[in-house]
Amino acid sequence: MSSFLSRFAMLCCDGTTGMEETTKEVEVDASAIQEAVDQTKEKFATYWPRNIIILFGAPGSGKGTVAPNMEALLETPQLSTGDMLRAAVAAQTEIGKQAQEVMKAGGLVSDEIVVGIIRDRIKEDDCKFGFILDGFPRTLDQAKALDAMLSEEGACVTKIIALTVPDEVLEERICGRWIHKSSGRSYHVKFAPPKSMVLKDDGKPDPESMLDDETDEPLMQRPDDTAEALVKRLEGYHGETVPILEHYESAGIVKKVNADQKPEGVWEEVQTALKR
Ligand code: AP5
Repeated sequence: MSSFLSRFAMLCCDGTTGMEETTKEVEVDASAIQEAVDQTKEKFATYWPRNIIILFGAPGSGKGTVAPNMEALLETPQLSTGDMLRAAVAAQTEIGKQAQEVMKAGGLVSDEIVVGIIRDRIKEDDCKFGFILDGFPRTLDQAKALDAMLSEEGACVTKIIALTVPDEVLEERICGRWIHKSSGRSYHVKFAPPKSMVLKDDGKPDPESMLDDETDEPLMQRPDDTAEALVKRLEGYHGETVPILEHYESAGIVKKVNADQKPEGVWEEVQTALKR
């Protein structure tokens, strides 16, 4: 058992001179604390249900913007089928080759492929306390497949955070988006520009100047972030994805958030919606 000495600043009240700051040396057994933490985590992973959240919303509604905050708050991973499929396309795996053209045109990849991806991913260790699904399910069949795979362990979706934004604002958001490929960080030429952005005489950003704030690596635009592909993506969203909300409505777990406001306001509302 290892131990270490640690100094703690303590506030003591002596009744005559008021509050005074003193320090006291306390012996702390670090490995005993770690053991207790690990045992508590193990109990949660074994006996408590997983916290399974769906982050729901149209293309450009702000799912990818809000997800990192949710990950940090809940300490559970964001599982984005879009990111996973883009990684498969970049690596030119069999799935990537099948998905590439459909994605570029703004269509939906087959249920079979995405359900398979999620089924494997949620078995990984970092999902043991729960996970945040971003971009999945996207069809009623995917929702039913998700329910069925969760019911195998007696689990179910615990909450749906549905970001609502009128279609009219989405084109500007989508066409102005730039992303940092490896981290998924999302920028916008007007609403969230990178620090390095320089505008040319025509008011458009100089692509050379679009760099990630944290790594200085180049940003990129997604091939499906065009006005043409957005029309198809929105058709798919309204026709196939929105009915999922009705499927979960009766369980009382759908929380709508107004995402047509500044990102800070969206995050405030999301935090309220996440509370019990
Ligand atoms: P996916 O990657 O999931 O894309 P999406 O759902 O279309 O959503 P986006 O990533 O475009 O938008 P977002 O909501 O994350 O918005 P963001 O935060 O970046 O899917 C891509 C494709 O993969 C699909 O079309 C399909 O082909 C395939 N696919 C994926 N999952 C699938 C599945 N389950 N089944 C079948 N096919 C599947 O914000 C957008 C922009 O707006 C950013 O620039 C941001 O800075 C800005 N912004 C964000 N919030 C605000 C705000 N409040 N105010 C102003 N600007 C804001």
